[in-house]
Amino acid sequence: MAKNAVITGWGYYAPSRVMTNADLERIVDTSDEWITSRTGIKERRIASDGETTSTMSVRAGRAALEKAKMRAQDVQLIIVGTASPDYLFPATACLVQAELGATRAGAFDVEAACTSFLSALAIARGMIVSGAVENALVIGAETLSRLLNWKDRTTCVLFGDGAGATLIEASNASVGIESTVLHGDGTKGELLMVPAGGSKIPASSDSVERGLHFITMAGGEVFKLAVKSMADAAEEAIAEAGVSLDDINLMIPHQANLRIIDGVAKRLHFPSEKVFVNIQRYGNTSAASIPIAICEAEATGRLRRGDKVLLVAFGGGFTWGASVLEWYGAHDGVRPASPLDRARGVLGDVVERVRPL
Ligand code: COA
Repeated sequence: MAKNAVITGWGYYAPSRVMTNADLERIVDTSDEWITSRTGIKERRIASDGETTSTMSVRAGRAALEKAKMRAQDVQLIIVGTASPDYLFPATACLVQAELGATRAGAFDVEAACTSFLSALAIARGMIVSGAVENALVIGAETLSRLLNWKDRTTCVLFGDGAGATLIEASNASVGIESTVLHGDGTKGELLMVPAGGSKIPASSDSVERGLHFITMAGGEVFKLAVKSMADAAEEAIAEAGVSLDDINLMIPHQANLRIIDGVAKRLHFPSEKVFVNIQRYGNTSAASIPIAICEAEATGRLRRGDKVLLVAFGGGFTWGASVLEWYGAHDGVRPASPLDRARGVLGDVVERVRPL
């Protein structure tokens, strides 16, 4: 049984269409000044007509597999975290599985709003460490632009589209994903939701007329709880990992609002220069925000092998959670030759050979 689960591949996809705050000024009664000062967002990406959560997931997933030098047919599990799936069912993960040609992979979606990626990561880690699977492609992806009421300035300025993916593999090394904590409070569900389209309020001409298939949100309430919950989860994940905040090299928070991110750092007395922020360019991409941020942090040299990383998220449900991991990085191109080797513990030998443990 593997001791640990490590991220060995990562990739993301952001639609090429950029919508700036100036573009929004032409659609709703808002201003660049209001959006920037309240949220930190300057622009966001919007999916084009042919793009969906599954097509963006496929592009991110393919990039993660390439980084890990893993063939799609060797992937054993695909989990897509999303609140904006292509369909109610089949799961977006199944569409991704088919398109990637991941013929041996199990596939399902996880929906925990903006905490979906962390939730999927926690499941993948558990299944890998228990020996149920050797690897999992964990994707966070959203096309929230299709759930937004573009006449509602209180929500449409906040969100964006995109996808991020990570390949998680079993490892016998002593490092990896060291803790995952998840929480929920369903009593607050109505503060951030899409009311219609499910079994309670099925799609009808009435539901469409009343705009019930759009995201609704009580922003102020969400804000208050997000800061406290994320800070609490971060402390819990750090304690569970047996480290201290001083050991953390980089915090990658869910990118919902710059003021929420700053509030979490302040509450934890965590230095802001060690917090990764890219919300100014993407807005809130919900489940996609953490995996996209992981990719950009790595690409800009802010994630190096051996770094301790704190992931923390909050979202509708309410849901929230955090994870501490030690960044392993790409596996230096050496892969056990046979499926038998892979079954024995996958990257263990490789990890131990290349890491000064
Ligand atoms: N442009 C201009 N004015 C806007 C606006 C916009 N896009 N959206 C709302 N307003 C107006 C409101 O109508 C309200 O006007 P009123 O006072 O005349 O009624 C006023 O701005 C509210 O301002 P304020 O109270 O300063 O807003 P805020 O500081 O609470 O910020 C949010 C609003 C939405 C940015 C903030 O509450 C927030 O970020 N909440 C969390 C949202 C979130 O991250 N959700 C996802 C969690 S994963």
